[in-house]
Amino acid sequence: MTEPYDADIERAAAVLRAGGLVAFPTETVYGLGADASNPRALARLYAVKGRPKDHPVIVHIARSEQLDDVAIDVPDIARSLARTYWPGPLTLLLKRRPEAVAAETTGGRATVGVRVPDHPLARALLDAFGGPVAAPSANRFGKVSPTTAAHVRADLGTDVDMILDGGSTTVGIESTIVDATQTPPLIVRVGGIGQHELALARALDGATPAPGTLPSHYAPNARVEVVDKSQLETRVAELRATGKSIIELEAPDDPAEYARVLYARLRAADAPDVDVIVAVAPVDDGGIGSAVLDRLRRAAAG
Ligand code: TXA
Ligand code: MG
Repeated sequence: MTEPYDADIERAAAVLRAGGLVAFPTETVYGLGADASNPRALARLYAVKGRPKDHPVIVHIARSEQLDDVAIDVPDIARSLARTYWPGPLTLLLKRRPEAVAAETTGGRATVGVRVPDHPLARALLDAFGGPVAAPSANRFGKVSPTTAAHVRADLGTDVDMILDGGSTTVGIESTIVDATQTPPLIVRVGGIGQHELALARALDGATPAPGTLPSHYAPNARVEVVDKSQLETRVAELRATGKSIIELEAPDDPAEYARVLYARLRAADAPDVDVIVAVAPVDDGGIGSAVLDRLRRAAAG
């Protein structure tokens, strides 16, 4: 990895201004960025992602002070969450400011998902560009999110105009999404900030999840099976006895470390000759362990 220079940041901002696509690291996963106010750039973004047009994209801003540039009627509770968790892996759903965020960014919705990423390159790019940047994870639709620049290159090839390489991302799974248009706010996707930390927001249980949080998201090609640690050896032996080619996904005990390595290990394990990836379930701790479990279950449903 070579650290991008200021000149690269300026070039990347110019690519965005010209309606191009720039992949950049955030603390969660790499994003595929486009000018959030430019419908033509967004059309290309959706085409490259292979993403349905009604599936909204998160808007990234450089600092909390820009919140009112992209959203209207921001409730106090959303400001308080922003103060506590930004920059960081929290996305707030708010009422969209139509003149700043194109309808194409949010699948025509009246709401917008906003966050301030906690990564020096992401923030340098957002600062240099100046406006809001729409960015889904920089993978093709339905695939595992990229946590390195090499993952982005492998998924998107020359369909992306520029990739800023910031090495491996540190959180490793996507942001937690809180719908702040509801009172009290509601968690619609578990992620980098644990549910137990977000005492202000209601739990996901029984709620309608964010659009696009499909049961079979995050899916590698091989079948994924999630097992308790105590069952691992028995299950692997059972599968091997049927002649299947098995890979055990090494599961760190620390849930934050598990989150950090999860997608890279899923990608590495997902070789064409592998039938089943057996993954040990993390502790369902109401925090990042629960978010890892959520991603593994979706991978298993794929
Ligand atoms: O950590 C992350 O959130 C990463 C990095 C790049 O910021 N981004 C990411 O984006 O995971 P994406 O597009 O892969 O997932 C965005 C999720 C989708 O499930 C989408 O439905 C939801 O956010 N979302 C975005 N805007 C929304 C809105 N206005 N209303 C409801 N859901 C929204
Ligand atoms: Mg994604």
